Amino acid sequence: MKRDIAVIIVAAGRGERAGPGGPKQYRKIRGKPLLRHSLERFVAHPEIGQVLTVIAASDEERFAECAGGLAGTTTPVVGGETRQQSVHLGLKALASTLPEIVLIHDAARPFVSTKLIDSVIMAVRERGAAIPALPVTDTLKHSRDGRTITATPDRTEFHAAQTPQGFRFADILEAHDKAAANGRAFTDDAAIMEWLDKPVALVAGEPENHKVTLPQDFIALDVQSRETRVGTGYDIHRFGPGDSVTLCGIQMPHDASLIGHSDADAGLHVLTDAILGALAEGDIGTHFPPSDPKWRGEPSDTFLKFAIGRLAARGGRILHLDLTMMCEAPKIVPHATAMRASVATICGIAESRVSVKATTSEKMGFVGRGEGLVAMATATIELPGGD
Ligand code: CTP
Ligand code: MG
Repeated sequence: MKRDIAVIIVAAGRGERAGPGGPKQYRKIRGKPLLRHSLERFVAHPEIGQVLTVIAASDEERFAECAGGLAGTTTPVVGGETRQQSVHLGLKALASTLPEIVLIHDAARPFVSTKLIDSVIMAVRERGAAIPALPVTDTLKHSRDGRTITATPDRTEFHAAQTPQGFRFADILEAHDKAAANGRAFTDDAAIMEWLDKPVALVAGEPENHKVTLPQDFIALDVQSRETRVGTGYDIHRFGPGDSVTLCGIQMPHDASLIGHSDADAGLHVLTDAILGALAEGDIGTHFPPSDPKWRGEPSDTFLKFAIGRLAARGGRILHLDLTMMCEAPKIVPHATAMRASVATICGIAESRVSVKATTSEKMGFVGRGEGLVAMATATIELPGGD
């Protein structure tokens, strides 16, 4: 009896506590907008016949993009000033289809499981109304002013409410109508039933079904999907006439200079390539063609900062950079500390995440003859998964 169960997903809030980045329900977590996660789970549920989203009037385009290509969602309705009003408007929009049972869910809870949906539906069938909740694990303190404790209630009697909250449709519509007519404000739907002395059952909630409320909730819930990637960079430069070389932005005296693209800072070039490699976004030459006179003499930190910018735009971060210089001279080790500090500053990371090593090639080959220098780098980065 698929048509008998409808779902209202409330997504008309502004997400003010979640910080900048637009309304939280349209921000991505584990590669998809929060709301999309809930939509997919409810649409795929075999017993659910209707999935109605309540959105803000200004979010029509955002919703269309978020729900794009997903069959089984109803045209959204516009919500109100408060969550309670948004739910009420959703219920009124469903009144003509008169489902037997309605589940009311926060778009801000993207990871509701099919098992949890099943247990709420089953409890509504048996007991008329049900919500998922988690036992409170911290000791609770009551305080009127937030400064002094007035009581320590028995925490075993307390449970933290989640959604989806399930009701017989006619009961919850009537309850919302009464609450609105009496000007009463409640923070969840179960509370309205309680106000009317109607019993509401508890079923076991799930920690994964946490509500994204604060900026740190995005990071905490996203963590499982972060992936680690490794990229390498390799570069050879020839020595030519001159009296110093610049490596990782540090100038060191030498009886020759490096010939090459821009300022020929092979250290920064390979680090740039290593990061671009880890992103699979080409190499330094793709973005700064040597044929373009614009980049001649360009300080190489421009390239590295560009790669860091690409990484940041993908929501990633550097875990570690490891650089190896291969040359007979100049001696790198005396400059390694300054080079590490320079790279750390350019990349905005701790020096402990930057390694600079050096080796000679035992007088063999072009490096051994002092004709040129080889630089190699490995970048280990972390990216949000799901692309
Ligand atoms: N909600 C809604 N209409 C409102 C207010 C809230 O549909 N007028 C929805 C939110 O979009 C969210 C759910 O109710 O999915 C729970 O509310 P909350 O976590 O408080 O979200 P926001 O109100 O968006 O966030 P904030 O209170 O931080 O502004
Ligand atoms: Mg709110």
